[in-house]
Amino acid sequence: MDPVVRVLVACEFSGTVRDAFTAAGAYAMSCDLLPSEKPGPHYQGDVRDVLASGWDLMVAHPPCTHLAVSGARWFKEKVSEQAEALEFVRMLMAAPIERIAIENPVSIISSRIRKPDQIIQPWQFGHGETKATCLWLKNLPKLVPSRIVEGREGKVWKMPPGPNRWRERSRTYPGIAEAMAAQWLCNSNAEAHGRQSRTVQPLVGRSESEDLK
Ligand SMILES: C[S@@+](CC[C@H](N)C(=O)[O-])C[C@H]1O[C@@H](n2cnc3c(N)ncnc32)[C@H](O)[C@@H]1O
Repeated sequence: MDPVVRVLVACEFSGTVRDAFTAAGAYAMSCDLLPSEKPGPHYQGDVRDVLASGWDLMVAHPPCTHLAVSGARWFKEKVSEQAEALEFVRMLMAAPIERIAIENPVSIISSRIRKPDQIIQPWQFGHGETKATCLWLKNLPKLVPSRIVEGREGKVWKMPPGPNRWRERSRTYPGIAEAMAAQWLCNSNAEAHGRQSRTVQPLVGRSESEDLK
């Protein structure tokens, strides 16, 4: 039996990328300080707790509140928050995982850490919308557009204000998640990383996730 590729989806409450990798045949676990919106393997807590638990691939969506260029007018007032957010990104980039993708909007990661390897748009992956999304890749190929569609609506900018605005704006597009799983899973081979095949038990909550620490 082929070893199961183990995927950590860091900073994800929606379960979108996790479920796309699961559907493609991986063992995928999401991790967020928040609970998962959908049932499935999820560690509710700090991603630092589970980074060294033997993953083959990590897709990480670190918070962009203090990094996104769209919030540039507040930059002067949040120097320490920015430094902390950049340190979190550096820590994720340096995680002991063979293949890593970090996803963020256009942000100061580009000027303060390094330029992204790729900038994608939802309309390249079946959603008729614009939202420039940067990818910093380690040992992963650039994503190939899976379905270019006509629409170019800037939907995220038009979302009404409210307590859940950030949540709706930060949600990963399913078409992008499916492309990540389809294109990056075939690029990841658990056996090639020297791990033996193992049975992976689904995890649903913090207590069940303790064995991953
Ligand atoms: C920009 S949102 C990403 C949402 C993601 N695209 C999705 O579809 O669920 C960033 C997330 O990082 C989470 N987060 C922040 N610090 C974290 C930490 N230390 N460990 C795990 N998650 C963290 C936040 O709770 C937030 O949900």
